[in-house]
Amino acid sequence: RPAPTADPAVTPRPVPAPRAAVGARTLRKDNWWVEPLVTVVVLVGFVAYGMWAALRNGNYFHDPYLSPFYSPCLTDNCLDNATPHIFGDISPVSPALIILVFPLGFRLTCYYYRKAYYRSFWWAPPACAVPDFRRGYQGETRFPLILQNIHRYFWYFAIIFAGLLTYDAVLAFIYDGHFGIGVGTGVLVVNAALIWLYSLSCHSCRHLCGGGLKRLSAAPLRRRVWARLSVLNRHHMFFAWASLLWIMATDFYIWLVASGHLTDAHWIA
Ligand code: FES
Repeated sequence: RPAPTADPAVTPRPVPAPRAAVGARTLRKDNWWVEPLVTVVVLVGFVAYGMWAALRNGNYFHDPYLSPFYSPCLTDNCLDNATPHIFGDISPVSPALIILVFPLGFRLTCYYYRKAYYRSFWWAPPACAVPDFRRGYQGETRFPLILQNIHRYFWYFAIIFAGLLTYDAVLAFIYDGHFGIGVGTGVLVVNAALIWLYSLSCHSCRHLCGGGLKRLSAAPLRRRVWARLSVLNRHHMFFAWASLLWIMATDFYIWLVASGHLTDAHWIA
């Protein structure tokens, strides 16, 4: 059989250089394991706190503050009348267990968190230039990890939740019908701001605004939005951690006030 003749129009692909025969698992001498370790500690801490917060089913509202774990309000335990209190005054399960499906789904499938927990929990790989723990790693090409692609759809729910948390932050300025500002108001405002920054810096959001176009310059408005989101996107990791930790801090603060362990300082006009 004649050998196939080379097509001069096709640029030949460069042949990758052979790997050096290195016996050691990694040549890195720095403390590369610190980042995965910190990630494990913080994420396990969040899961433990989140379980306690979601299962306690009480002390999540202190007028006018509502914990983000229990927003939107689904019971008569909150004074908010804008959302349907589908559970009345007694809820068969903690409302947080229903609500958290959406924010948790968004975070679990987040591109940044995926990198963080693949590295720290599965060691796939644990760090740059450190090999995978398992040899048969297939990436996200198969079930179940291929389901991570659902992230772009969770983003729409994330925007709804960002709106709800903003609504809670606005209500935190109204004390028994009067305008006021308290420590809890500031906590809820920062919480809403961080959630917006985290959601808007999402890679899916950036793609939604600037992706799918043959020429970005032909859509000047989308290009401008995309350029601004790209600035936020560079800090997505920071917003991911800051918003996660602040959600915990917000819930904890409201629990302290609602359970009588702390008195909220506030000023009412
Ligand atoms: Fe992190 Fe979308 S990539 S929230």
